[in-house]
Amino acid sequence: MKQRIRIVLFLILVFLGIAYLYHERPEIFEDLRPSPYALDIVYASDMHYLSQQLTDNGERFQEFSLSKGPKVMVYIDEIMEAFCDRMEKEQPDLVILGGDLTFFAEYLSHLDLIEKLERIEDAGIPVIVIPGNHDVGYYEARSYSDEDGFERTEEADPEDFRELYDRFGPESALSVCDDSFSYLYEVNEELAVLSIDANAQEEEDRISEETLSWAEEALELAEEEDRTVIAVLHEPLFVHDGDDEALSVTDRAEELQELFSEYGVQTVFSGHLHYQSRREEDGITEYVTSSLAIYPHYYGQIRYDRGRVSYRYTRLNVSEWAAEQGLENEDLLHFDEYSRGVTRKWWEQR
Ligand SMILES: [Fe+2]
Repeated sequence: MKQRIRIVLFLILVFLGIAYLYHERPEIFEDLRPSPYALDIVYASDMHYLSQQLTDNGERFQEFSLSKGPKVMVYIDEIMEAFCDRMEKEQPDLVILGGDLTFFAEYLSHLDLIEKLERIEDAGIPVIVIPGNHDVGYYEARSYSDEDGFERTEEADPEDFRELYDRFGPESALSVCDDSFSYLYEVNEELAVLSIDANAQEEEDRISEETLSWAEEALELAEEEDRTVIAVLHEPLFVHDGDDEALSVTDRAEELQELFSEYGVQTVFSGHLHYQSRREEDGITEYVTSSLAIYPHYYGQIRYDRGRVSYRYTRLNVSEWAAEQGLENEDLLHFDEYSRGVTRKWWEQR
């Protein structure tokens, strides 16, 4: 009898262990309470948009895109449409796109994405961006067709990027760096966003000396004006979850950490890792937002309320959007299932 009880207890423990390993992680880091003083900011990252003029979404393209990760590239246009629609409904005070805006820096993808961003702006919501490592031509930009194969297409270079996106941040900023796509953006009289670019420069993944000294001047300016500053980067400031530091952390991370500590920057937002994470070190909290293109299609919701910054993340509901549009595509109407399937396939192929 005792033996049987032991076996049952053992099985219960095994079950609880498995349930713990596979449980869904909570979707909220911090609860956002309703407040009449709150400023709501959406932070979305790594959408990796590809112009629909550059792909037939055929089998060869699907195979290729899966070899690059579990991004749902076949429906990337629909994902962005659903996101724009969501922003129009949610009406945040600001939308920040945290880099890796495009698949492989295709000039056409930037142009088509900008058209979508204009839709958000037309709804009265300002949009600012930072470049990621996929946004200027360090990779090969191509068009994809089952019939014609893969062909090279024009890539955006750092200068193109600055020209294309000038109005998404720098144009109306309090201070702009001459050497990179870095700027200090005024959200309101209390809050500013310090955007640091490590990608739209001549050298890949580098933060120049000029950018670093500009950042210090910008923080001095913010201090003089008594502003709270939140910083945004594409590559994270800290190592998360035992990642390879060389691949996952921004250039000059230690110098930036010192600078942020000196000027009281307590909150940093980044992307690049394609998973959600939070890490706190020396009074700085970094929130990493996952990729909008990858299951479960999270985006971040930042709230600033009288000096306090909080963050949570939520799912982009593509199937709800598809139903509202009256679409009949089953993949889109059951998007969670479809998108989870893409991630599963990617895991199996790794
Ligand atoms: Fe990315």
